[in-house]
Amino acid sequence: MNNFLNQVTHGDAITYIPQLDDDSIHCVVSDVPYGINIDEWDVLHHNTNSALLGQSPAQLGKSGFKRRGKPIRGWSASDKNIPSEYQAWCLKWTVPLYTKVKEGASIFLFGARRTVHRLIVAMEDSGFLLKDILVWEKPNAHHRAQRLNNVLEKRGMQSKLQEWEGWRLGNLAPRWEPIAWFFKPYTRTITDNVLENGLGAINIGDNLIDSKNPSNILRFGFSSHEQRFHEAQKPVKLLEFLINLTTRPNHVILDPFIGSGSTAIASINLNRQYIGFDINESYIAIATKRIQMHVQTHQRQKTLL
Ligand SMILES: C[S@@+](CC[C@H](N)C(=O)[O-])C[C@H]1O[C@@H](n2cnc3c(N)ncnc32)[C@H](O)[C@@H]1O
Repeated sequence: MNNFLNQVTHGDAITYIPQLDDDSIHCVVSDVPYGINIDEWDVLHHNTNSALLGQSPAQLGKSGFKRRGKPIRGWSASDKNIPSEYQAWCLKWTVPLYTKVKEGASIFLFGARRTVHRLIVAMEDSGFLLKDILVWEKPNAHHRAQRLNNVLEKRGMQSKLQEWEGWRLGNLAPRWEPIAWFFKPYTRTITDNVLENGLGAINIGDNLIDSKNPSNILRFGFSSHEQRFHEAQKPVKLLEFLINLTTRPNHVILDPFIGSGSTAIASINLNRQYIGFDINESYIAIATKRIQMHVQTHQRQKTLL
């Protein structure tokens, strides 16, 4: 039996995944580091372009993402290597993950729109198959696109302002995030696999949304009482949906990048077991406390019923 069961453990997923028992995981739900240098908790690349890791004046003192994620002085050769570096990093944990999950198990990986294709290739090269790319549509999103005229004004280029009125430096508002949905291929028919492993079918009946069959566009926000512990935190209801769709009570859910413990909370709510890792000790402390308090409340509510 896995030593890590129903715990969150401080450490590198690349070290700990190989220590899990083979064929012991029924589902993986994880918000994987995005590989875009977004903050200390992301995969930080060996990059010689120091501007990439710096902050813009607008980001100083803000609690949101603290890194620019784009260079100030043009793209260097090392910037262009970031996607392949990210794929190589993913392979370090996707390869050992393969033997740990059961045949027919679902693996849901949240990724960044810019780098998720590299994560998908790493998963495929490790033996998994892609089932779908779900869309998590967020209720709102910060639109970070600086007015070009603000920059031109700072440069004293008043004569250009009319020409560039309305133009911005940045992207459209990021209203969705991809959730790459993989499965481990099975050696029998899907029905035989469902009967033997309890995995491979989807529980539509228990996951209707507004009394209708769910689609692959998932609209979930945070509940009004949901406290925020992590900059990249995901709503517990969204994680519950993914877990409840593909697993049964007592199944083991792995999140190797668990952050503030949201996947553990969702698993507890659904009477599933969980295993969580995070490389950042302070997130493990936050997750441990969050889980303890949640379990106490959960038990209190059960005894009141
Ligand atoms: C996107 S965040 C997850 C946030 C989480 N969804 C939540 O709701 O709190 C990714 C997490 O991966 C952790 N991380 C980064 N590299 C890691 C590694 N090699 N092994 C384990 N955890 C890692 C970071 O510390 C970070 O908390």
